[in-house]
Amino acid sequence: MISVAIMGHGTVGSGVAEILTTHKHKLFSAVGEELYIKHILDLRDFPDSPLADRFTKNFEDIINDIEVRVVVEVMGGTNPAYDFVKRCLMAGKSVVTSNKELVAKHGRELLEVAKENNANFLFEASVGGGIPIIRPLSQCLVANEVDEIAGILNGTTNFIFGKMINDNMDFADALKLAQDLGYAERNPEADIEGHDACRKICILASLAFGKHVYPESVYTEGITKVSLEDVKFASKLGYVIKLIGDVKRDKEGKLDIKVCPMLLSKDCILAGINDVFNGIMVKGDCTGDVVFYGKGAGKLPTASAVVADVVDCAKHLKARKRIFWTEGNSKDIASYKDSVTAMYIKVAGNGEEALKAFPNSKVMTEDNKTVLITKEYRFGEIEEKLNSLQVLSAIRIGNL
Ligand code: NDP
Ligand code: HSE
Repeated sequence: MISVAIMGHGTVGSGVAEILTTHKHKLFSAVGEELYIKHILDLRDFPDSPLADRFTKNFEDIINDIEVRVVVEVMGGTNPAYDFVKRCLMAGKSVVTSNKELVAKHGRELLEVAKENNANFLFEASVGGGIPIIRPLSQCLVANEVDEIAGILNGTTNFIFGKMINDNMDFADALKLAQDLGYAERNPEADIEGHDACRKICILASLAFGKHVYPESVYTEGITKVSLEDVKFASKLGYVIKLIGDVKRDKEGKLDIKVCPMLLSKDCILAGINDVFNGIMVKGDCTGDVVFYGKGAGKLPTASAVVADVVDCAKHLKARKRIFWTEGNSKDIASYKDSVTAMYIKVAGNGEEALKAFPNSKVMTEDNKTVLITKEYRFGEIEEKLNSLQVLSAIRIGNL
């Protein structure tokens, strides 16, 4: 029997406890031993839970229990998650987390601490919810040089876009529904303003390119400036709008990495990804495009990825999984101004001035508004041109 502790009994944590209980026999076959939930740490009481006798409010019950070999961290945030996770690893306990904020901020250090203590630190659920992506990237695609990773990495914003476009729901109602369904972060600003997608592309970039990418060094734009009118204009021109996290190497070897809304051609494989689903495209130099698709948030999809990591830890109690990356800094990251892109630009009137600034653009005028689809420019140049115009919207066009 292998004893497991779960820290956090919210959306994901309750899902982990549920799967460990309902899939007990299946998991026994996978591990060869029973996975036994010994402690559940939470701030609240759960007197009606069938596991009510396992709850504690005291982390010391977990850290001091030598029988606990695997600890699941699903509390979220970095305080006290960072401290608790580090102490568990230092005590030689393996840790599994779904907490992308923690991994994006402290992943390199925690992987190092895990290595020093011959423990595992696994985080499959931190990107893409139930979609396998961390393990495929670190194992199945390891023979490739990764040229680019681009994806819809936030379920909440994709869900909101869908509700607004297809069901005419307003933004606030769609967000409330995403929260009720357990998709949104505790502070949903992280979803809306792009920080959650930023943390995820940082984790993928660190893994694929080998150096820690910190969220502060990544250009991040959320979805609040995208209007329903933009979605409709884009559609008439053959595009959909999605919040995309994207990373690739530029000619100087720096990482061109960003999170922002993008117009995607309706032919793009990511364009048809709707609702809470995520899609992640990895361009490998040997494989070409490989695409991962599935539910990016929610209780059981996310818990499924967490439990898979628990099984992996349980099967490797004496061996380490080789996942690592080295320290990185902002010098590895290209300025967002050097990124090259075409743009969707919306202005009032007939767009004469805009067309002078962006000659040879494709133009559509409707309801006394003009939309330009420009040629490609360096973003720094685009910014300068936009500063001299009265622009209603400016959104990048993805070349995926
Ligand atoms: P919830 O807010 O639903 O659950 C967190 C739980 O942890 C709550 O029960 C909370 O208690 C408890 N908790 C918080 N701090 C402490 C503490 N100091 N000691 C003990 N318990 C604590 O979050 P989620 O389950 O949605 O998310 C958990 C993590 O997983 C986050 O990092 C999130 O980003 C990530 N994630 C979430 C997904 C989702 O679909 N929800 C998908 C993928 C990743 P209380 O409520 O009483 O404060
Ligand atoms: N809030 C996140 C999302 C949860 O909506 O994608 C999954 O990481």
